[in-house]
Amino acid sequence: MMMPVTAYGHPTLRKKAKKIDKDYEGLHGLIENMFETMYHSKGVGLAAPQVNLSIRLFLIDATPYEKEIPEAKDFKKVFINPKVIEKEGDKWGMDEGCLSIPGINEEVIRKDEVHIQYYDENWEFHDEKYAGMLGRIIQHEYDHLEGILFTDRLSPLRKTLIRGKLRDIAYGKVDPGYRMLYPNLKKRK
Ligand code: CO
Repeated sequence: MMMPVTAYGHPTLRKKAKKIDKDYEGLHGLIENMFETMYHSKGVGLAAPQVNLSIRLFLIDATPYEKEIPEAKDFKKVFINPKVIEKEGDKWGMDEGCLSIPGINEEVIRKDEVHIQYYDENWEFHDEKYAGMLGRIIQHEYDHLEGILFTDRLSPLRKTLIRGKLRDIAYGKVDPGYRMLYPNLKKRK
């Protein structure tokens, strides 16, 4: 089942998400629905706040990148209650996009490597390090659980330049080709 994606400006995207426990109802169905939503909207990552759930869960399927990045092969993972221990390495920039912010791609500077601990969908614990593209996708998705969007990480100038586009998204003046959940804003002319 497809779920609507929260749009820029939606309050759930700004909350710090909460941990879940093993009894969380309908977890496997939710994970399935999130993958389906992500594939339909052609994303490589999706975090629970993007389907209006303020819980610490995100998923990634980086396999579309496997030609360019060998380590993306078979990289389809679910991250439950993840915790970033450290970000390390040189900073580098790459254009990022986000299903909650359709039509905007901007260069984001991040550290290369992330050390993360998490549980997978079978509640197996993992303690891993990822660098490069995978490290970047993980950092982007993890930010969602902290209420951070990639546009927060842009320079003041870039932020100013995209302000109008962000407003249009918040007011529903976009057609991304998938269902979105817009914030409840008063109509303005
Ligand atoms: Co995103």
